[in-house]
Amino acid sequence: MNKCILLLSWVLLTLGCSDHTRQQNDTAQIDRKWWKEGIVYQIYPRSFKDTNGDGVGDLRGVIEKLDYIESLGVTMVWMNPFFQSPMVDNGYDVSDYRGILPEFGTMEDFNELLAGLHERNIKFVLDVVVNHSSNQHEWFKKSRSSRDNPYRDYYHWWPAEKGDPPYRYSLFDPTGSAWKYDSLTDAYYLHYFAAEQPDLKWENPEVRREVYDIMKFWADKGVDGFRLDAFQFVSKDTTYPVFPEGWVDDFIKYYSMGPQIHDYLKEMNREVFSKYEVFSVSEGAGSTFQDAHDLVDADRNELHMAYHFKTVDLVNSLDGYELSEFKQVFSEWDSAFAEKGWISIFLSNHDVSRLVSRFGNDSPEFRTVSTQLLNTHLLSMRGTPYTYYGDELGMTNIDLDDISEYNDIAAKNSYQKALSEGQDMGLFMERLNFLSRDNGRTPMQWDNAENAGFTTGKPWLPVNENYPEINVADQENDPNSVLNHFRKMTRLRTNNLVLVYGDYDMILDDDDQIYAYTRTLNEDKMLILMNFSDQKAQAKLPEAFEVEQIMINNYSIAPFKKDSTVVLEPYQALIVRFDGR
Ligand code: GLC
Ligand code: CA
Repeated sequence: MNKCILLLSWVLLTLGCSDHTRQQNDTAQIDRKWWKEGIVYQIYPRSFKDTNGDGVGDLRGVIEKLDYIESLGVTMVWMNPFFQSPMVDNGYDVSDYRGILPEFGTMEDFNELLAGLHERNIKFVLDVVVNHSSNQHEWFKKSRSSRDNPYRDYYHWWPAEKGDPPYRYSLFDPTGSAWKYDSLTDAYYLHYFAAEQPDLKWENPEVRREVYDIMKFWADKGVDGFRLDAFQFVSKDTTYPVFPEGWVDDFIKYYSMGPQIHDYLKEMNREVFSKYEVFSVSEGAGSTFQDAHDLVDADRNELHMAYHFKTVDLVNSLDGYELSEFKQVFSEWDSAFAEKGWISIFLSNHDVSRLVSRFGNDSPEFRTVSTQLLNTHLLSMRGTPYTYYGDELGMTNIDLDDISEYNDIAAKNSYQKALSEGQDMGLFMERLNFLSRDNGRTPMQWDNAENAGFTTGKPWLPVNENYPEINVADQENDPNSVLNHFRKMTRLRTNNLVLVYGDYDMILDDDDQIYAYTRTLNEDKMLILMNFSDQKAQAKLPEAFEVEQIMINNYSIAPFKKDSTVVLEPYQALIVRFDGR
């Protein structure tokens, strides 16, 4: 007989030894992969920790915090770009893909950081920004210098004698147009993002070879994965057809998943991924489930994991979102990927506002429980969860009233655009205040020293003034903090494969306060119960669930009453192991 059973009480048994036994039994038929079982922690290096007082976070700052990162229980770190860059889009405009921006540190620092992560069994995911480069990249400088320069065909050019180029939309340009006239050679170049971010011409095999060489350079250094920035846009129809009426409403359909994208990915897989133990994810997944499957299903030999925007896109206005839609999107994506393929699970990143402000309740009364609820959800879904730095504390949006206080090029240029279109600027600023990317980029709140312990200098972006109430040091000491709850959740997920691979089934589908689902892997069954509202919520569980053990609960009150009734406190979130059904 297993000696655990002899020695331990029932409670310890379900926590410890039996977990192990259950997992052993369950794993035989699962296609286990480290990147499926991983928990990603996303670090925006400018904002994490500054070690030299210049107000900008740096690689040494991440090195200093390696033990903290390990303590979170995360197993992968994705870091936003730290390459040479004029920083027009905070590093998403790369001028040398093999060089490190001195503001961030040196290659020695990077090597040390990577080794420090690996010592702690944490993988590193590199951000690869190759839909476009910086206009300061040598390639672009040469490309624009003359029409017959060998680098001309590294970018998309439209000679002016052909007349105006067919309209293409730019996500960042103040005029809205993605074509920029360059008088030097009397031609327009294409930029889906800012004018300083010209799109690389993937149709040119030389460009692709350069990119694979860059990726191999980093893979040889030991990076474990690649996040391909804006990759769904790389393939273009270079005859530039005029798009039909209505394209505006279906931007992704017309601009993403161009004719050659799968050929490029298969080639990248062959040239790079297949040669290393790496994983890959691209930002964006087209406009349909089929698009996403075509990118990531194992038999396609393209990418490993899809990263779609349907969930973050639920909040794109001041009105917030409906729980019914939230449930629907998560359920539909889960069901579409139940048999094949694998998705990312996230509700925040560096391009959106803060998790608890956007999807939860960031009032002082509820922000702790509300963030705990959102983290319970993220870390109990099927797919690989991504947590953005600061969301393990419940960091909130910042209040920036004047456009001069914003740093983000997207904010500044969209302000210019709105102004020139005669939009209601009061409303525009209200929306920006809530939705801007700067919300998610404010410095990490380490303690209640000046500047939240982020820097001894002047921070590049203001520190949120709530840092005395929300910071790591305080939360370390509080067993009920968002931080310690996050750690419990990562431990729970890591110790229970059912939370990674188990089937997902929603229950109480029509409840407008409660989101509840089960995760099932053979005999191992978990029920996740979450009250997304600021009021108590009561419901009857559909059939007799026999609660075996509460695995995690963000209140000390258990919600189970007689006759399968549950009563949940505001933002109460718990996971229970159960039997039955
Ligand atoms: C991606 C990045 C975003 C960047 C854009 C252009 O969407 O996540 O931060 O601004 O690409 O590179
Ligand atoms: Ca610094």
